[in-house]
Amino acid sequence: MNSAIIEALRIQSGHCAELGSPFNAALLAHAAADLESGWTAGGLFDPWASAGLQAVVADAAALRFVGGLHDLVLAGEAPALAAAYPRRGSPGDPEAAWIASRPAVEQQAAWLASFMAHEPQTNEVRRSVCLIGGFLEVARSFGLPLRVFEIASSAGLNLNFDRYRYALGDAAWGPADAAVSMGADWSGPAPPTGARLEVVSRAACDRRPIDLADPNQRRRLMAYVWPDQFDRLDRIRAAIELALATGVRVDAADAVDWTASRVSPETGAATVLFHSVFWQYMPTVSQAALAQTIATLGGRARAKAPFAWLRMEPSRGAADMEVVLTLWPGGETRVLAEAHPHGAWVRWRG
Ligand SMILES: C[S@@+](CC[C@H](N)C(=O)[O-])C[C@H]1O[C@@H](n2cnc3c(N)ncnc32)[C@H](O)[C@@H]1O
Repeated sequence: MNSAIIEALRIQSGHCAELGSPFNAALLAHAAADLESGWTAGGLFDPWASAGLQAVVADAAALRFVGGLHDLVLAGEAPALAAAYPRRGSPGDPEAAWIASRPAVEQQAAWLASFMAHEPQTNEVRRSVCLIGGFLEVARSFGLPLRVFEIASSAGLNLNFDRYRYALGDAAWGPADAAVSMGADWSGPAPPTGARLEVVSRAACDRRPIDLADPNQRRRLMAYVWPDQFDRLDRIRAAIELALATGVRVDAADAVDWTASRVSPETGAATVLFHSVFWQYMPTVSQAALAQTIATLGGRARAKAPFAWLRMEPSRGAADMEVVLTLWPGGETRVLAEAHPHGAWVRWRG
């Protein structure tokens, strides 16, 4: 077995341990050890047989593998494996799960290979707790209703950000009866929760959107949530139901083309372009093209037709995220917060 695959599994095992999934961390450590001892994993890692470490990590082969196992469990296709998976009140038994995984991998190699054939698709609902303060800042700054445009929206779950309820340290925001609620370990001041935030239109794109109406795609989205993270699983289930009820729509399009053709400031509303954990997936040439389009849109903004660019992306050289807001006219840029990649904590600067 290519040693880069084994190392990539060990690296991902460490990340899962750090980010609160001891179960996936253990599965990946077992998989790495068994591959080192000559196990072939039913050929599942053949697509990376000659890849270097950087490529295996960039392709998230390890996450595809544990995502595929979770998908089998959620689909009811591997009862012995499912019996060892975490459940409310039980952290699961990773040793037993690993023993059950090996025959499941051999028997369901075609299913798993198909699951692993394309990149992980995640949609992290709790990134909304990091972004909501940015939308409130836009509303406070301009005193106008918002037209929101999300690029790389995945299933579009964060497009419903104004329909969620948030605990923001000592403050709260959102409909009291919201079907989806969330908080974060909050430090710093609260964002301007008194601002009137009204969304008058919403639109989104992703180059490979998840169609929530398709049960297989819904399950795939759930499968990428780590199986011992019950809060995340509960939250995404509730957010999927809300998205189905509200009819969230995500266009299948590349972010660069879609932004250029769909987004434009309009009089009487603040136009907001936003994204989370996406920029790194674009080649440099697309990053430059999108940055240029955004600057052009900013140049077209007027006091009565302002434009905002809100993003949550990795801070340079660190695993943490930064929430950054640029407002036009003017183009003033502010780092609003640092945040955990899944929104577990937020350090709000305001
Ligand atoms: C890590 S996911 C983040 C999804 C979502 N923004 C969130 O925070 O939960 C990255 C998303 O970027 C999308 N993506 C990557 N490159 C893209 C592009 N050039 N245009 C549109 N979407 C893209 C992928 O399909 C994927 O859904």
